Amino acid sequence: MGEQLAMNGGAPVRTLPFGPSHYFGDEDIEALSEVIRSGALGKGPKVRQFEEAFAARHGVEHVVTVTSGTAAMHTCVGAINPDPGDEIIVTPWTSGGSIIGTLLHNCVPIFADVDDTYTLDPADVEAKITPRTRAIIAVHLFGNPCDMTALREIADRHQIFLLEDCCQAHFAEYQGKVVGSMGDINGFSFGGKHLSAGGGGAIMSDNETLWERALIFSDCALPRNGGPFEGRPYANYFLAPNYKLNDLMASVLLTQLKKVDGYIAKKIEAAQGIMESVSDIEEITPQRVREGDRHSHWVLGMTLDTDKMACDAWEFADALNQEGIPAGGPYIGSGKEGPLYRNEFLAGPNCYGRSHFPFDYGREKPLDYRLVECPNGERLMRRGFSFSMQPSLDEEDVADIAAGIRKVFGHYRKRVTAGVRGQGSGVRG
Ligand SMILES: Cc1ncc(COP(=O)(O)O)c(C=O)c1O
Repeated sequence: MGEQLAMNGGAPVRTLPFGPSHYFGDEDIEALSEVIRSGALGKGPKVRQFEEAFAARHGVEHVVTVTSGTAAMHTCVGAINPDPGDEIIVTPWTSGGSIIGTLLHNCVPIFADVDDTYTLDPADVEAKITPRTRAIIAVHLFGNPCDMTALREIADRHQIFLLEDCCQAHFAEYQGKVVGSMGDINGFSFGGKHLSAGGGGAIMSDNETLWERALIFSDCALPRNGGPFEGRPYANYFLAPNYKLNDLMASVLLTQLKKVDGYIAKKIEAAQGIMESVSDIEEITPQRVREGDRHSHWVLGMTLDTDKMACDAWEFADALNQEGIPAGGPYIGSGKEGPLYRNEFLAGPNCYGRSHFPFDYGREKPLDYRLVECPNGERLMRRGFSFSMQPSLDEEDVADIAAGIRKVFGHYRKRVTAGVRGQGSGVRG
């Protein structure tokens, strides 16, 4: 019998709060003050400086900043300019922000299954390609890079675009190559991720044509801001939103860029410390990282062998929270809907009024997301739980998180006695 859980009246493992996710201080205040004093708060020199610095850090030609990661992924889709009803292949285990731009562009997300890296399984991506496929979105979930060699090979063979969603994966590396430098055009979020200005995003590309269109797309397709349409008569040249970042946010991104390597090193160290501390528990399996890859651990994700437990992953995470250890289910911040295709905006359908658009555009029958299945992803998600990795996590914090996992695990583990499998202490309800 394990110790009494906090949720049942026992003493919690941890009562002290954990530290911050970022260190904002005098440097950031000074940078912001400088912009405010200048009187020019819009898109200006700080935006350009940040775009150049971020591009240089990735060894890519072009960066365009935008207002969020959602805007970044929309801009990537806007840059490739697909037709309504075109299909874009994506993982079901991600933020809605990965595909909101796909939907706003009247395209149809097609879900391919994931493997134990929690990222796209290239074999299933291949199986999902049709004549209407225009792109693959490779989401590096939690900071773990996708199999970019396999995805690139598939994209090239079918002459479709490969987009990276790097929103959770700043400075992660696939076989020595930094994420954001491998896809045709790639998106980042600066809303509470490794590099944060409390919001913001960017796209990155080496492809001149895609970059030009992305730049114009992020600014209402107007001929200004040094873009390729500069000098043409003032007009909106195609349908595009205003996603421009301003110098206030760019100035914070510039100061934070100096700190981001330190944040990432601490996140990786904390994640490794937690994984090592519970590595003897065979019912718990961390997200698999390919040999030679660098996971930049925005999140530490694990699965629980629920066949051997008297709880599901959500109950496990709830119990941890009550122990004072902040934990989430399979996806930080998500509800219990599970894979993205079960969310209302797809399964409703609750996309455009009461219509089935764009899921019926040019199709005999509308695509029904209630029938979509990605068995491996669903199995992993049912078993998944996760922790947000913070640069402030020290040895003591790591020890508390590991102690919390052990305590909750000890409580819910099913025990096998004299050949009879019993519930042990894991009493539900
Ligand atoms: C994988 C992924 N893509 C896109 C987004 C959207 O980013 P934002 O919240 O900055 O709009 C997020 C946000 O968490 C994300 O995790």
